[in-house]
Amino acid sequence: MAAAVISCINLKGGVGKTALAVNLAAYCGTLGKKTLLVDLDPQTNASFSCVGVSAWQQHVAQHGSVADLLGARKHTSADGVAKEAHETIFRDVFPNVDLIPSHIDLFTVDLDLAGATSRETRLRRALKDVIEEYEVIICDCPPNLTIPTQNALAVSTHFVVPVSLDFLSAIGVGLLLKRVEEFCNDLEHKLDNIGIVISRVGRPALHRDETEATLRSQFGKSVIKTKITERVAVSKCAQSRTSIFDSGDQTSAQEFSSVCDTLLKNSKVI
Ligand SMILES: Nc1ncnc2c1ncn2[C@@H]1O[C@H](COP(=O)(O)OP(=O)(O)O)[C@@H](O)[C@H]1O
Ligand SMILES: [Mg+2]
Repeated sequence: MAAAVISCINLKGGVGKTALAVNLAAYCGTLGKKTLLVDLDPQTNASFSCVGVSAWQQHVAQHGSVADLLGARKHTSADGVAKEAHETIFRDVFPNVDLIPSHIDLFTVDLDLAGATSRETRLRRALKDVIEEYEVIICDCPPNLTIPTQNALAVSTHFVVPVSLDFLSAIGVGLLLKRVEEFCNDLEHKLDNIGIVISRVGRPALHRDETEATLRSQFGKSVIKTKITERVAVSKCAQSRTSIFDSGDQTSAQEFSSVCDTLLKNSKVI
């Protein structure tokens, strides 16, 4: 079966995209699914969460990063040849999970590729040489719809939108869904929404309840029932290069398991 490719997107930062992408990848790994996590955010948070800063530094110096696959200026040799996907892979960051790390040079890749053709489909082409190895590929995206996110969407079969419970985030979801739809129409590409995940939920408050009610009435079944609450263990995991499932916080692990389970069912991975 062809790999399910799932992009984790939102135009907002700090809503839990990376936490979900990393833990969804780890969850797939625990199910025995051969999984590839692709970090497309120039802030490289997913890469740091999986392998730490120094291992990341060593790896990208030697083997390259996703910036090579997109053809960021400094990552292409004089004759225009960049690295191939299999060279950039950091193997076994979690059981059954590999990583293609990101690089800060992705910040300017839109300018580097200003005059290039087929800019949105570079990742799709690059992954052709490794896609058969994987059952699931997860793309962690930056908080915008620039070239790295467009490349993620163009290779994806599904997407998930983490959202926090504040008024502005909730408004943003509608705009995002509209832009994704336009992008898919332009590329004649089919992409399924496998869920809106309410994340980083803090203490009960009236404004949060109202925002949740608005989201659920506006987007109906797309909003996943289980919410991910704000727990110290989630940010600790990112520091200690572990997944939430190995953190010892059973409450948080259960929330992530439930959300991941629904997302994988919605994408027919399980
Ligand atoms: N459920 C959570 N509980 C506690 N901290 C979280 C949770 N989800 C994310 N964080 C922390 O909040 C910050 C932003 O989350 P992150 O997943 O990086 O968001 P995004 O990728 O959308 O910018 C990070 O420091 C992360 O460790
Ligand atoms: Mg992130």
